[in-house]
Amino acid sequence: MVNNIVVAIDGYSSCGKSTLAKALAKKLHFIYVDSGAMYRAVTLYFLRNNTDLKNHDLIVDALEHIDLNFHSRDYESHILLNGEEVSEEIRQMPVSENVSLIASIKEVRKAMVRKQQKMGKSKNMIMDGRDIGTTVFPDAQVKLFMTADPKIRAERRYNELIAKGENVSLEEIFDNLAHRDFLDTTREESPLVRAEDAIILDNTNLTQEEQLAFAIEQVKPFIV
Ligand code: CDP
Repeated sequence: MVNNIVVAIDGYSSCGKSTLAKALAKKLHFIYVDSGAMYRAVTLYFLRNNTDLKNHDLIVDALEHIDLNFHSRDYESHILLNGEEVSEEIRQMPVSENVSLIASIKEVRKAMVRKQQKMGKSKNMIMDGRDIGTTVFPDAQVKLFMTADPKIRAERRYNELIAKGENVSLEEIFDNLAHRDFLDTTREESPLVRAEDAIILDNTNLTQEEQLAFAIEQVKPFIV
């Protein structure tokens, strides 16, 4: 098999990027990297340490104390923040409420993009996020830009969190997704925007099997 194929999956909050990315990685035996988990883990670190987000020197200093590692179990990606497994905690509301602000800080983005590009060296990989096809891997062989009806997205995320026992309302989830989309698309530093050569995948009315089949069709020409 050819080496170093990158599939970049970008799109709005909670439109199923990671579900598709995991399924695709499993099918193709590629590595899966959840770039959003990295921004979420950095956010958790800043929240825990009460980092002053207006002080850029402090941010740069804090970033040097953040060690992020992934370990993969059955294509589920787990993230370690300075050796501690934080995969569950980074999905909770305090992180969701602050992550897009923190992800708009230039120093944070620079540090994460550098790490992400390193991970993509000589590996077949699927990475999902907001700027993968535009900034992290502009030369990715396959770029998908995912979207779905905002109400459906909120319902999916609500059901996910309720199943985990979180105490959340559908309204607060809807508002959080809308707010993050706003911040992600309007920030100065590598905003969420469809790369010109990205294929749009609207999964509002698609099953998981259908969206996987669609994605496989896009990658197929590169793996035969
Ligand atoms: O899973 P969900 O779509 O809710 O979000 P995520 O992929 O976990 O990303 C959380 C947040 O991190 C996003 O709302 C963005 O603000 C930020 N992010 C980013 O700026 N760039 C990326 N490549 C990935 C995430």
